[in-house]
Amino acid sequence: MTLSRRQMIAGAAGLALMPARVWAQSNTGLPPGFTEIDAHPATHQIAPPGYDTTSIWGYDGLVPGPLIRVAQGGRVRRRLRNNLSQPTAIHWHGIRIDNAMDGVPGLTQDAVPPGQSFDYDFVSHDAGTYWYHSHNKSMEQVARGLYGPLIVDEPDPLDIDHDLVLVIDDWRLDPDTVQIAEPFDNFHDLSHQGRLGNLITVNGVFDPEQPVRQHDRLRLRLINSANARVFQVELQGMQGWVVALDGMPLEAPLPIAGAFTLAPAQRADLVVDITAEDGTSADLLSIEPNGGFGLMRFPVRGQSASVRRPAASALPPNPQPVMDNIAASPLHSMTMQGGAMSGLAPSRLGDEVLDARALAERGKFWALNGIVDRPDAPFIDAALGETLRISLINNTVFDHAMHLHGHHFRVIAPDGQLGPWRDTTLVPSGQTHQVALVMDNPGSWLLHCHMLEHAAAGMMSWVRVT
Ligand code: C2O
Ligand code: CU
Repeated sequence: MTLSRRQMIAGAAGLALMPARVWAQSNTGLPPGFTEIDAHPATHQIAPPGYDTTSIWGYDGLVPGPLIRVAQGGRVRRRLRNNLSQPTAIHWHGIRIDNAMDGVPGLTQDAVPPGQSFDYDFVSHDAGTYWYHSHNKSMEQVARGLYGPLIVDEPDPLDIDHDLVLVIDDWRLDPDTVQIAEPFDNFHDLSHQGRLGNLITVNGVFDPEQPVRQHDRLRLRLINSANARVFQVELQGMQGWVVALDGMPLEAPLPIAGAFTLAPAQRADLVVDITAEDGTSADLLSIEPNGGFGLMRFPVRGQSASVRRPAASALPPNPQPVMDNIAASPLHSMTMQGGAMSGLAPSRLGDEVLDARALAERGKFWALNGIVDRPDAPFIDAALGETLRISLINNTVFDHAMHLHGHHFRVIAPDGQLGPWRDTTLVPSGQTHQVALVMDNPGSWLLHCHMLEHAAAGMMSWVRVT
């Protein structure tokens, strides 16, 4: 209770300060329409009350970073100011963006050195739930807190009582000091499941509360900002539908029954009704092998209506390309290799072919098609507008959350049915996901595992559209 109250007070104070801040910025040489987003170290109460605060790195010193919210078709203009001790850059995850604004050091821009800035200026033609995060030394910088939500609103608001953006993170804190545990690049994390934490927060708060009434309708925008944890999310005392995944509306709302998967970087938009009785509470749970853990509580006080509302309808679709003749389209195979217990065959790293031991000495444990790290030549050189398929073949004993920049794709089920549009798909160990997409966004785009330790230890490739 005290946590959410404090958050609301902080939010109100922030609003009151806005005009002065905008005025100050207009005097510091910002181009018209731009606001600054300042990446710098700060402290934040991540551990439960009574523990110390934790040193973090945050956009505007916040965890998550400030909510960026625009109308569909609206423009986002932010000057990233780097007040960190390392170079950085912002990637706008899931936005089908102009390539120059994609925020990938070494591919679409140079990393921004400490003390310097970079202007991001783009339009989102898609409505939905997106996020932004550091794409330089992501394994460390995202773990330290450099991420935030980016919401693009549909023209017509939904008929709901609360629109809640819930950014879920998994922190690894030193249990004695509650500071972020280092190092970030230990070989066990790199070669196994990645950096799993010991404290889970929603919007940077441990076990927050949101008061509701029975039969309130909520839109929950879940964003998994964890480096590596795959959440199995379950609802208690609320019932409803998944209406969008990775920002893109489903053709029809999908009733929620039991737990559903939210892999790193994935988003799920839910429309749910509070069904718990007045005086009890509804809960958002994370299902783990050893039981269910509360992520967030929704204490129920009073009733907003005596019955539930009619079923949710679908969100208006985002513009999507037509995929013609998928079955005849070129098929590219990408095989995920390596990791603990799989014995990585000799693989290419830059100009050399190295065996598993030599790769491990360099902190590299994974390969994609026998190549470690992003190669000079793209995995696919596609013509603009080309429809193609990619087989994501997981030959490892771990699951991988494969993410493509600048595009959404559809997983092709074994029976040929096309799944929802997504930007990140969790390919379970030993399985293959075949995806179809239209390469309709020109530029150079990363294709990588979003378990950030796997990406750092080799699972990184790219495609080019010309
Ligand atoms: Cu969310 Cu390449 O990243
Ligand atoms: Cu992975």
